[in-house]
Amino acid sequence: MLVKALKRFPLAPRSTQGGLLDDRTGGPTHVHYRRRDRQQRDRIAALYRKGAEHLVEIAYSSNPYPDGDPRRPQFDRMIDSGAHLYRHLHEVPVLVVPCVEGRFETAGVCVQASLYGSIFPAVWSFMLALRARGLGACLTTDHLFFEREAAEILGVPEHVTQVALLPVAYFTGEDFKPAKRLPARERTYWKRWGERP
Ligand SMILES: Cc1cc2nc3c(=O)[nH]c(=O)nc-3n(C[C@H](O)[C@H](O)[C@H](O)COP(=O)(O)O)c2cc1C
Repeated sequence: MLVKALKRFPLAPRSTQGGLLDDRTGGPTHVHYRRRDRQQRDRIAALYRKGAEHLVEIAYSSNPYPDGDPRRPQFDRMIDSGAHLYRHLHEVPVLVVPCVEGRFETAGVCVQASLYGSIFPAVWSFMLALRARGLGACLTTDHLFFEREAAEILGVPEHVTQVALLPVAYFTGEDFKPAKRLPARERTYWKRWGERP
């Protein structure tokens, strides 16, 4: 994982960050610490914003969920919170970019699933470990529309794939609640796709 620590904001002590990452990495994942650098952070945040705006244009220009779907009212809130994130990403104290060694965008599904599958459990465990210590993160991928530009900014070699970007900071408030989901039963099939008991 590539870690970028930034100034001026409350940061987890370096020992905590390092310990968390040491706990969560293994196999083909990678840890690399970078010195604080405001300009570098601003450039990554600008790429992220460009990616997020592009995603809104191509996929989120209108609410895709029908009336009665519990995801419909959440959609606008999700768009608002996503916009808040891209407007403020440059202020976030730590940006973690998990990476995996290898390039597999042209490989088959098995290789892709295996390599993404080898790092996302670590990413999720890392996010849970942060949470247990009063730090928050969220999973984002929008900067990957411009992965190569980000790689140049961060010095990531060509044979390495970035898989996400986690903004990390101490959170305020404790009023998190789970999003409403469709009942799992409606999305679970038996024996063959589309069949329900
Ligand atoms: C693979 C993946 C990529 C995501 N990328 C972004 C992103 O680039 N920007 C963003 O604002 N939210 C992104 N999200 C959504 C949020 O990180 C988060 O999942 C969302 O706020 C809802 O949280 P929940 O899944 O816990 O309900 C992504 C989610 C996933 C699963």
